[in-house]
Amino acid sequence: MASPLTSPVRCQPSQVTVVGAGNVGSTLAQRLLERNLANVVLVDIVVGRPQGVALDLAQAVGCDRTRPSCTIVGTNDYQDTANSDLVVVTAGLPRRPGMSRDDLTQVNGKIVADTLRQALGRSPQASVIVVTNPLDVMTYLAWKVSGLPSHRVMGMAGVLDSARFQTLIAWELGVPPQDVSALVLGGHGDLMVPLPRYTTVSGIPVTDLVSAPRLQALIERTRNGGAEIVQLLKQGGAYYAPAASVCVMVESILLNQRRILPLAAHLTGQYGLDDLYLGVPCRLGRGGIEAIVELTLTAEEQAALARSAAAVKEQLPPALAVLVP
Ligand code: LAC
Repeated sequence: MASPLTSPVRCQPSQVTVVGAGNVGSTLAQRLLERNLANVVLVDIVVGRPQGVALDLAQAVGCDRTRPSCTIVGTNDYQDTANSDLVVVTAGLPRRPGMSRDDLTQVNGKIVADTLRQALGRSPQASVIVVTNPLDVMTYLAWKVSGLPSHRVMGMAGVLDSARFQTLIAWELGVPPQDVSALVLGGHGDLMVPLPRYTTVSGIPVTDLVSAPRLQALIERTRNGGAEIVQLLKQGGAYYAPAASVCVMVESILLNQRRILPLAAHLTGQYGLDDLYLGVPCRLGRGGIEAIVELTLTAEEQAALARSAAAVKEQLPPALAVLVP
């Protein structure tokens, strides 16, 4: 006897709004689709840009016949972003050669504040990941604008900075990057704090494998990692690794993986720091930041983190000035 027809059981996919259809936003959309992680709404102010990218990506996804795929919409209308689970803000001006991340504070602050108001107005239940530079400052601004609890607003930088440190160590030792577990704390700026003491190669402390002077050179190159790519590209900055790093965070949230990842979180006394966003290890799950991991730091590491925090705090007043009408 024929069994009754039932509709196939499908999970309702999550929806991610990606604000900004530049290189980072477009590459992130591609990664999310190829991993079938979420339906993507790509929104940008430039007429035609998100629509064109979305059309191209939709056709690319269709080439892979082996897997079902999530969908993508490109739009200039925030109405299309309604009911998203996550909003990722990549919109903003990129750095030009010789420009510091902090030079971008005012102009990108306005963009972040405006886009988030529009997006969260349609998706009040969403969590937010900020990618726009200067990262830690923009994340603080995003939190202020959003009115959300701080565990639902975070910045992407630690995963990227750690990936850069990881790659350089892997090249130094001639091992695959997957064998290296690297940790970088602090702000996403020149004063970020790569932590060799918490960096291992297949469980072996990196300090046992790489000499102190070589390690220092790798730390400097990590700190300069974004600028090195800006100098090489001459127009715009890195985007493959930044997009890959955001994708790691999106995955940990949407799949409730609860991974421990370094990211910009709101500190309220942890590491002796108060009321700023700064890169620290966090457990990241469906509800957002579930816990901030407090490592025991040496006096020297703590001082380096405090210097990085001070540089971020200095930039908060000009960023918050964009909120004054
Ligand atoms: C970089 C940008 C994303 O570090 O800040 O490449």
